[in-house]
Amino acid sequence: ASTLGAQAAQSGRYFGTAVAAGRLGDGVYTTILDREFNSVTAENEMKWDATERSRGSFTFGPADQIVNRALGRGQRVRGHTLVWHSQLPGWVNSIRDAGTLRSVMNHHINTLVSRYRGKIHSWDVVNEAFADGGSGQLRGSVFRDVLGTGFLEEAFRSARSADPSAKLCYNDYNIENWSDAKTQGVYRLVRDFKARGVPIDCVGLQAHFGAGGPPASFQTTLSNFAALGVDVQITELDIAQAPPSAYANTVRACMNVARCTGITVWGIRDSDSWRSGENPLLFDRGGNKKPAYQATLSAM
Ligand code: XIL
Repeated sequence: ASTLGAQAAQSGRYFGTAVAAGRLGDGVYTTILDREFNSVTAENEMKWDATERSRGSFTFGPADQIVNRALGRGQRVRGHTLVWHSQLPGWVNSIRDAGTLRSVMNHHINTLVSRYRGKIHSWDVVNEAFADGGSGQLRGSVFRDVLGTGFLEEAFRSARSADPSAKLCYNDYNIENWSDAKTQGVYRLVRDFKARGVPIDCVGLQAHFGAGGPPASFQTTLSNFAALGVDVQITELDIAQAPPSAYANTVRACMNVARCTGITVWGIRDSDSWRSGENPLLFDRGGNKKPAYQATLSAM
């Protein structure tokens, strides 16, 4: 096939991109979006600070725009993200009462997941809950500090009751190298959830890579998570300077793991990227295909 989405579909996978509502009026952007991609993730529009700026007051205009536009064109949608320490409004961050925070968290999850019930193929239920470095433990956050480590389980159970059909993912960065303590921490969490019947269906590996691309163990990491009985997805791929071989290695690793169900790049053109200074994406500022594009297409 001659596009990323169509080529991924040949093996039953999707190929997606992060989308910003503010760019949907740009014809170069939407031409590439609709030609190449069959899944989208809202880059910021579903985050807590965008959807519930004050308690109980929800805003869905930009998120709806992304979802409706995608579904109308036959593209699938990933939901990103329900519970995250970042891009979290101050009013949530300052809650100190566990009962209040629990009901606020569950109401937020229930409101978003119910609104998009049947429209979202996978939700990042919890994002980036693990600490960097060698601890293998959860990072400090209002959720961990006020609710304890059980907030993760509670979040996944809430999401499941609001949409029993959506795949529920745990999503994080720097969990691509198998031997890293952070990877091991996430692995233990997923193993524990599966052992106790806590609903979890997938692990999202963000894959924000340096110019060297994925670690040598990346495919092993994907396989080991998959062996726990979850799907894996590459959810936010970008690679500094976009070396073609680094993209090819990333894509090959996913293709080699049956339960790696899809890949999402974190933006379309280099100028759209949150790391735009590093030119990490598949299209240049003029919307032209870069060498990494051909390498990605050929690797599928
Ligand atoms: C980034 C967006 O791309 C930026 O526009 C925003 O300013 C900050 O967040 N991990 C995630 C994504 O899960 O939501 C982040 O997206 C990148 C890191």
